[in-house]
Amino acid sequence: MPLLKRRNVLVGGLAAAAVWRPLGSVRAAGFASDPFVLGVASGAPRKDSVVLWTRLILDNAFAAVSADPFAPAPKPSTDPVDVEWMIAEDETFSKPVQSGIYRAVPEFAHSVHVEIKGLQPGHWYFYRFRAGNAESPVGRTRTASEVADTFRFAFASCQQYEQGYYSAYTDMARKDLDLVVHLGDYIYERTYGAGLVRKHGAGVPSMLYEFRDRYALYKSDPELQAAHAAFPWLAVWDDHEVTNNYANDHAPDAPNREEFLSRRRAAYQAWYEHMPVHPGLASGFDALRIYDHYRFGDLLGLTLLDTRQYRSPELEGDAADDRPERTMLGPAQEEWLARTLNGSQAKWNIIAQQTLLSERDTKAGPATGYNLDGWDGYRAGRGRLIDVVQSSKLPNPIVIGGDLHAFYAADVKRDFADHGAAPIAAEFVCGSITSDAPSATSLATAVAENPHLKFASDKHGYAVMRVGLKSAEVDFIAVTDRKQQNSPSSTFQSFAVADGIAGVNRL
Ligand SMILES: [Fe+2]
Repeated sequence: MPLLKRRNVLVGGLAAAAVWRPLGSVRAAGFASDPFVLGVASGAPRKDSVVLWTRLILDNAFAAVSADPFAPAPKPSTDPVDVEWMIAEDETFSKPVQSGIYRAVPEFAHSVHVEIKGLQPGHWYFYRFRAGNAESPVGRTRTASEVADTFRFAFASCQQYEQGYYSAYTDMARKDLDLVVHLGDYIYERTYGAGLVRKHGAGVPSMLYEFRDRYALYKSDPELQAAHAAFPWLAVWDDHEVTNNYANDHAPDAPNREEFLSRRRAAYQAWYEHMPVHPGLASGFDALRIYDHYRFGDLLGLTLLDTRQYRSPELEGDAADDRPERTMLGPAQEEWLARTLNGSQAKWNIIAQQTLLSERDTKAGPATGYNLDGWDGYRAGRGRLIDVVQSSKLPNPIVIGGDLHAFYAADVKRDFADHGAAPIAAEFVCGSITSDAPSATSLATAVAENPHLKFASDKHGYAVMRVGLKSAEVDFIAVTDRKQQNSPSSTFQSFAVADGIAGVNRL
């Protein structure tokens, strides 16, 4: 039975039809089930452009997969589908701005990545898609501002689907924000932990269709969809989008390099297919350049780093290693970062990476212990990053990260052993949306052992930063109970960074 039944229909009769341009060459299809079940998203906001995203699920092949993990994978539809997109100034689409047709192809899982150009800076827009007899939910997006004296963004990471509900995203969707930054672990490749509230319904993905199904499962969550529909997003990956603790072309669970690179290629392609990222990324998936720089007027520069794809192999044991050839970012990204930061004229400069940049000795007393999957395993690379921040005289640098499933606030030092040294940057790490947290005791030890770590918490949730002319303020927001649906969220700790004075101030 064909998964997609087609018939030619005349367009008309819909209340909203008048605001859609004539469909022209669109091949209309009658869908037996809603193809827009993964929602809509937008991202890559520039001052005159933004990327709109959706992915069609044809006759709910994905639902069949997730309901029965032992059922054979459904045959994916091999037909392209023409999708009409429309962007307007208002939610009712009475003031249309642009519309067009995008051909969604099975080679990219019928995902849609449309870059809309010629938009106004610092402007809210509404968008939606239509294919055949189906219409998508309405999304809202915003171009980067050219002139602004305030900017608000959320940052989040680590959303293991089985370990909790996405109530934090419902709270985020209600906030007044310009942007969401996702710092990685958007999906998890494997099941672990106790007290799971829902199931992946499948094992560890290695094939492209398996990664696609994992993304489809995560993106089927209405709370995650609400946060995507409310704001443009920027996303960078961490390890779990591929596999735990992978480093460049090596992974702890890979039998050999060839197997891992083929798995990584599938994972990178599925990431592209499910993120509102620039369509230009689709040119190849053996490597995928996701590090980038975004500007929001003179107020804010936001630099996104990739600490997974180019890093040196992880160290064995728990001894730190200062060899200069060891790198977290790889030479090309390091060189690009130096150029980017040297050229930044923005008042505030956010460096968004995956984890905690600051040193963290996790062992109480004179003994030391480090997380070698983080920057403590790449000390020379960290030193070079901090040197560039210092030598470029980067205005108001603030580092943000995720990965640790715990909230942290820290003062970044050139030499973390020099307790009296002035901070070079402030650093904020968001807790996990749902993923299991370390013990409160271990976090207390970390704060006691490392004077530059000013705060740590094992709560779950996300963070919001408000950047203004005089200060940047950060709220740490926690969900009351990640294991309960519709659990409320609230701010439990706030910080400020004053203009011209690096370092974290607890409010
Ligand atoms: Fe994580």
